[in-house]
Amino acid sequence: MAYNQITPEEAAAMINHGDTLGLSGFTAPGNPKAIFEAVAVKAAAEHAAGRPFKVNIFTGASTSDHIDGILSRNDAINMRAPYQNTPDLRKRINAHDTHYFDRHLSEMAQEARYGFYGKFDYAVIEAVDVTENGEILLGCGAGNIPTYARMADKIFIEINSALPSSIRGMHDIYLPDDPPYRREIPIFHANDRIGSPVLKVDPQKIVGIVHTDSLDGVKPFTEPDEISKQIGSNVARFLLSEYRSGRIPKEFLPLQSGVGNVANAVLYDLGESPEIPPFMMYTEVIQDAVLELMKKGKCTFASTCSMTFSDATEKELFADLKFFHDKILMRPAEISNNPEVIRRLGVIAMNTALEADIFGGVNSTHVLGTRMMNGIGGSGDFTRNAYISIFSCPSVTKGGLISNIVPMVSHADHSEHSVDILITDQGIADLRGKDPVQRAETIIENCANPMYRELLWDYLKLGKGGQTPHSLAAAFAFHTEFADSGDMRNTNFAKYC
Ligand code: COA
Repeated sequence: MAYNQITPEEAAAMINHGDTLGLSGFTAPGNPKAIFEAVAVKAAAEHAAGRPFKVNIFTGASTSDHIDGILSRNDAINMRAPYQNTPDLRKRINAHDTHYFDRHLSEMAQEARYGFYGKFDYAVIEAVDVTENGEILLGCGAGNIPTYARMADKIFIEINSALPSSIRGMHDIYLPDDPPYRREIPIFHANDRIGSPVLKVDPQKIVGIVHTDSLDGVKPFTEPDEISKQIGSNVARFLLSEYRSGRIPKEFLPLQSGVGNVANAVLYDLGESPEIPPFMMYTEVIQDAVLELMKKGKCTFASTCSMTFSDATEKELFADLKFFHDKILMRPAEISNNPEVIRRLGVIAMNTALEADIFGGVNSTHVLGTRMMNGIGGSGDFTRNAYISIFSCPSVTKGGLISNIVPMVSHADHSEHSVDILITDQGIADLRGKDPVQRAETIIENCANPMYRELLWDYLKLGKGGQTPHSLAAAFAFHTEFADSGDMRNTNFAKYC
């Protein structure tokens, strides 16, 4: 079937106020680019003419400035889910200009299929190629596009000629049946392939093909600072001691690693450790560090949802695709983050917290309890189901004005029931097999910054009994003090005695 070759502006002209659009959305790679720049221009023109124009955007996770940034600057997003990380969208969400709901990434696609989010007007797909019978070779991410493409009335495809067709074979597209017909997801090792190398859609639904030619514009990571390096080395030290003790089997276990400088620093540190054997990853995103580990033979395989490489690393990947081809597999988010598979494989989860409390609760999403940062992402999918769940963060933020170890988290994303290990630049708190007071003692002693240890001991003494001896009157004293004086160190627990 011959498809309509259209311009981004022609695609934007077909998209109407109130439409719901489904995108791959798993970091910048895999997301369309040109169409949304044209949608933003249309939004600005509509607003200038006094007409409303906002669309609903459902993705797999974050997008990039090409989508969330540019649309937010033009006030063109009504509803957005599930994860985002661009400053302009964050501002809109926190100002209530854009509605946003935050779901575990593994759940988003199935809930869309269950009908929880209504009808999808368009799926917008970045691809390397599409055949006449609707077989789409996706780009560098799978995200939730298999589900959105199935649900949407119509499909736009952006064919990106910067992506090589030799990427074929690096996707594993599989959608589970919905209850009551769902069966086991037959992944028993991180590198098991269970689906198709291409996404199959009804070709009748493809209403336009747009052509682009650009890499994703992901910036390389900055050299980790001293604190990130210290956290990275503490995580590596912890994993090594688990391995030496036999609690991690001799073959090692698949790793999941979050994004950002700390995650990168951890992977570099693991790569340097001669005692840690070559390992696989079962994760949602792979970054530059993973490619380095593959070149060294330290990481033998990565199951992921997207390849979030900087442009320089992406070029390196494409130039040597033969070497990397059988070492990376991209799966839809509901498989890369699937609780059943994570539990079965014994994945070791390593995620980052904004703040953690002395009893083991973790806040990953809300700055000082109210302002949405990015979203829960896959941290809950992995943390709740992992073999060992590790959270790390610096012990303090803003030069010590904020302690990231607090009496009670100001927003609860992960509870003490799921968090096994807490690691900061100060050290490691192993929470396994400990009661709440024992957990508090090890967290204060090993993870809190010395500037805050005495204050946290004072807080622990305030509690008047109960298994988890919180003082409800003082639980947020750090946060209220920061709101009042701008420095949590001024907290005075004496007034709560
Ligand atoms: N209180 C107030 N502000 C805090 C804070 C705290 N306890 N901790 C950090 N911040 C501020 C930082 O100062 C920084 O502010 P700035 O932008 O003004 O510099 C900002 O929050 C981000 O902190 P940073 O340390 O740079 O975060 P990060 O890049 O390491 O990311 C998360 C940390 C938690 C935001 C990020 O990992 C995330 O979004 N996690 C949820 C999703 C997830 O885990 N996905 C799974 C794997 S991909």
